[in-house]
Amino acid sequence: MRVLVTGGAGFIGSHIVTALKDRGHEPVVLDALLPAAHPGTPPLPDAEFVRADVRDADAVRAALRGVDAVCHQAAMVGLGKEFADAPDYVGCNDLGTAVLLAQTAAAGVREVVLAGSMVVYGEGRYTCGRHGTVRPGPRRAEDLAAGRFEPRCPDCGAELAPGLVGEDAPADPRNVYATTKLAQEHLTASWARCTQGRAVSLRYHNVYGPGMPRDTPYAGVASFFRSALARGEAPRVFEDGAQRRDFVHVTDVAAANVAALEAVGGMPSGGLVAYNTGSGEPHTVGEMASALASAHGGPEPVVTGEYRLGDVRHITADSARLRDELGWRPRVGFARGMAEFARAGQRTSAAPAA
Ligand SMILES: NC(=O)c1ccc[n+]([C@@H]2O[C@H](COP(=O)([O-])OP(=O)(O)OC[C@H]3O[C@@H](n4cnc5c(N)ncnc54)[C@H](O)[C@@H]3O)[C@@H](O)[C@H]2O)c1
Ligand SMILES: [Zn+2]
Repeated sequence: MRVLVTGGAGFIGSHIVTALKDRGHEPVVLDALLPAAHPGTPPLPDAEFVRADVRDADAVRAALRGVDAVCHQAAMVGLGKEFADAPDYVGCNDLGTAVLLAQTAAAGVREVVLAGSMVVYGEGRYTCGRHGTVRPGPRRAEDLAAGRFEPRCPDCGAELAPGLVGEDAPADPRNVYATTKLAQEHLTASWARCTQGRAVSLRYHNVYGPGMPRDTPYAGVASFFRSALARGEAPRVFEDGAQRRDFVHVTDVAAANVAALEAVGGMPSGGLVAYNTGSGEPHTVGEMASALASAHGGPEPVVTGEYRLGDVRHITADSARLRDELGWRPRVGFARGMAEFARAGQRTSAAPAA
């Protein structure tokens, strides 16, 4: 299968290119090599490569020639520095997706796999002893400042038990980036309806592994800790370190993309199917910092109590649908993945700090 991989020079995209080639497929990479993602001279993809922006309709049209499916990874990632960044995010991620899909429609390509994200869910799923499943709103700044990090039941104020988020959970994007990732899904679903195309969104959890850009603000917490350790410093863990996440290895995410590309042609036409893409092994950010510090042989993490307003407390996916329907299995467990990452190289990045 010949696959156009947008963003194929990036962290996840480059692993997808390798995974596609390993399965005998033929990737074509289209990537603008954004300076924020690639300062200096980025390594060029080991595949047919077009340096272009997904908003460049002519370049996309040319790159789509002979292509069977599109794997759309190109996006501006990160929380951004300020709201003034919103037009750049929307332009890159949503106008970019619209241009790509319009050309995909015109070229008669009917299969799209999209890099989705868990950020579309906002704060995860919680259970109150009295009220059952509840959806707490954003945490209040005064609670965070006072060290009250756990969200409370919106009805009775009781403590809540975090649970796993299913694909049917309502969307609740909490920042500009999250909003653009949700809009990408809606655009892709509209494309599928209008063209009788078939689409998958893989809602990635926190992806980590070799080639991870250094010091990007988004999902980059593993990267921050790794960089601190490389400088001989202790990882600085925000809040109380008990925030739960699902850290999924980049090679497993690449394999999920290949599985989705190979399966999407057999899915019902006219719609988009979302799959949570996580390891299924939730861990706290504090546990992750400790695992990296001990594998690296560096100083123990320091829990600082600092916080970021846009952060959610716990967000962990239920990836059963991906396992059951696409037969995907994560292969790199937390202990091994973190131990390897503690020693692996990162890509230098000049992405803005949040
Ligand atoms: N890293 C994570 O934990 C994570 C989690 C959830 C979702 N995602 C999604 O996965 C995808 C890949 O992310 P990544 O972590 O590999 O980021 P990355 O920055 O390493 O890669 C993105 C690539 O896309 C390219 N790009 C960006 N905008 C473009 C445009 N308009 N035209 C052409 N190329 C463009 C960049 O040059 C870069 O090579 C993104 O869609 C991101 O939203 C990532
Ligand atoms: Zn309650």
